[in-house]
Amino acid sequence: MPQSVYLDMDPGHDDVLALLVALASLEVEGVTTVAGNQTVDKTGRNARRVLDIAHYKTISVHGGSAHPLFRPLVTAGHVHGSTGLDGYQIPAGLRHVDIAADAQAWLASEFSRHSSGITWVATGPLTNVAAFLMGHNHLIPSIAQLVIMGGALHGGNITAHAEFNFYVDPDAAHWVMTSGIPIRLVGLDVTHQALLSPQALDRFAGFGTEVGHMLHDLFAFYFEHEPHASPQGTPVHDVLAVAAVVHPEFFIWRRLHLLVERCREDRRGQVIIVPEEAAPSSVEVAIDIDSERFFKWMWEVLISRYAADPIV
Ligand code: RIB
Ligand code: CA
Repeated sequence: MPQSVYLDMDPGHDDVLALLVALASLEVEGVTTVAGNQTVDKTGRNARRVLDIAHYKTISVHGGSAHPLFRPLVTAGHVHGSTGLDGYQIPAGLRHVDIAADAQAWLASEFSRHSSGITWVATGPLTNVAAFLMGHNHLIPSIAQLVIMGGALHGGNITAHAEFNFYVDPDAAHWVMTSGIPIRLVGLDVTHQALLSPQALDRFAGFGTEVGHMLHDLFAFYFEHEPHASPQGTPVHDVLAVAAVVHPEFFIWRRLHLLVERCREDRRGQVIIVPEEAAPSSVEVAIDIDSERFFKWMWEVLISRYAADPIV
């Protein structure tokens, strides 16, 4: 029985790849969406459409926060386009989809059903996650692990110092990083190592399915717009958080006390390592990845579930 997970996302091209790999390798209990790569109405519709195209119509999508806890929203249209999934023509039958808009109530209902053992994966700004922790303290013990794509011990992608998800909502990121919940943090330190080769486009097209066609068109656009893409390949960020759930052994982890810069605007969202404190931190940070093992696994999962002829 695959491990069950809850996903909080801002689809977004790389969120789509993460969602498809999660659907094929884990038991996805549901998806909540957040404003980040695009506005929350668009990220919600995008998640619903991808689930429907991948034939997971029974998996629910619940819309969450429309803006960061205390700041105006910053989106990433320069990377993901005005729809959040530019490059791919949504099939006509999926242009008008509705989603529920009660992420917090749905999460509370779901997490109340589990006394423990919940794995929660977050691949967008941490606004929904922080709001839930603030409003449902009594349900925190039900969370066994929170796996996050975000942050960077060194460098950034939206500024020289900050990764996008932490930059958009640094207050939420700080709250979550200091919550005491068991966290595995998958940041740019590893996502800038594991680059998807341009040859992936032909491999996606070779699936011979609508999912393969969608991935081809989405990533043809993404290769042209992801700031760190090059002829050698492009980071795929979010899917590494899914890999960290299924195969944590692909990574090297270091336990660190982290804070997130919220005051200095020029350093907004920067991860700050706190010198060793008495109690061990609840946060493990990925500092290295075996990219070859990761991509071998990712292609096996994708081909076996989404290719017309799943010869791996
Ligand atoms: O910095 C990369 C992260 O920001 C990814 O989650 C991507 O989808 C964007 O949200
Ligand atoms: Ca994302």
